[in-house]
Amino acid sequence: MTVLKNDCFLRALQRLPVDRTPVWMMRQAGRYLPEYRRVREQAGSFMTLCTTPELACEVTLQPLERYRLDAAILFSDILTIPDAMGLGLEFVEGEGPQFQKPVRTAEDVRQLPIPDPEKALRYVPDAVRLIRRELDGRVPLIGFSGSPWTLATYMVEGRSSREFRKIKGLMYEQPELLHILLAKLTESVSLYLNAQITAGVDAIMVFDTWGGVLSPVQYRQFSLNYARLALSSITRERAGKKIPAILFTKGGGQWLEAMAASGYDALGLDWTTDIGDARARVGDLVALQGNLDPQALYAPIPTLRAEVRQILERYGEGSGHIFNLGHGVWPDVNPEHVGAMIKAVHECSPALHRGGAI
Ligand code: CP3
Repeated sequence: MTVLKNDCFLRALQRLPVDRTPVWMMRQAGRYLPEYRRVREQAGSFMTLCTTPELACEVTLQPLERYRLDAAILFSDILTIPDAMGLGLEFVEGEGPQFQKPVRTAEDVRQLPIPDPEKALRYVPDAVRLIRRELDGRVPLIGFSGSPWTLATYMVEGRSSREFRKIKGLMYEQPELLHILLAKLTESVSLYLNAQITAGVDAIMVFDTWGGVLSPVQYRQFSLNYARLALSSITRERAGKKIPAILFTKGGGQWLEAMAASGYDALGLDWTTDIGDARARVGDLVALQGNLDPQALYAPIPTLRAEVRQILERYGEGSGHIFNLGHGVWPDVNPEHVGAMIKAVHECSPALHRGGAI
């Protein structure tokens, strides 16, 4: 068994003492990196990167070569599950993801298979096994899935949406059908995350990108409830080591108490919530991950450093904070600014773990 040389991220997720705040970045392997764009161009498409374990492994490791990051995240996408369900995923240049066969009717829902991750999604656990070998214990590897609700929004809308008219139509007109779809997705998500854990990920993260478009009551019924159910069927241990789980609901700041009681070890925050207030609200129940505004990466470096410092200070002393952006990094960000952000976390955070202020 590989021993981790840097377990700062896993310790912070469990609120165990650390000597500095760990840092990683959502979409850290992506288009802002010229080395990513090169591999992506050679591969021809984004999905080829995802479905070819050697390429997924190569791009996963790219940001670690450049920066002192404390975690790697599997290079993949949340839409692999609906693709494996037969919806026909395409990434149209400049338009984002689209499905050839969106889910619209009761018959569509009934016909959806629950994919066996070692068959239809085999490229994902294969990539995990390869990345884990290549990482050789440098840092932990994060596996992930979309939340059942967020996957359902893409499957019903058929593409990215602003208004969510179709999925909300289904929610108001045929809520029982939406519940059947969400239950199928919940089972698929649990199987998928369990396969990633067996293959070797050290932590898991559930991306609930669209939970924040719901009303409070709907959020509990259609989003949080299924994210919680998915977690309850996940084996959160491998070889006696805990596999921590993170829940990220974009726009979920007003529901932190409910999220903190859902069984996850940590919550991801977007930048619209003050991380100090969030800490006071969730108490000792969970760790917190976040929450720099991704747009702060365009600011001059002294301003960017001040923003990093402010988040670290607002969280305050002690463990339980994982520094991250409040959402994914934009493709046109200057990689040097990403480096400056990470350096600022390394320089400013140790004081907070020696019982002092910055
Ligand atoms: O964080 C990481 O570094 C791991 C990789 C990762 C990707 N997508 C790579 C990716 C993760 C964790 C995701 C999750 C994902 N995918 C989410 C949830 C996270 C979030 O952003 O809230 C969502 C909603 C998706 C669906 C998706 N995939 C969209 C909307 C897009 C953008 C399409 C576009 O053209 O901009 C993608 C594509 C995608 N996923 C890219 C990457 C690096 C860009 C693909 C490319 O190279 O062209």
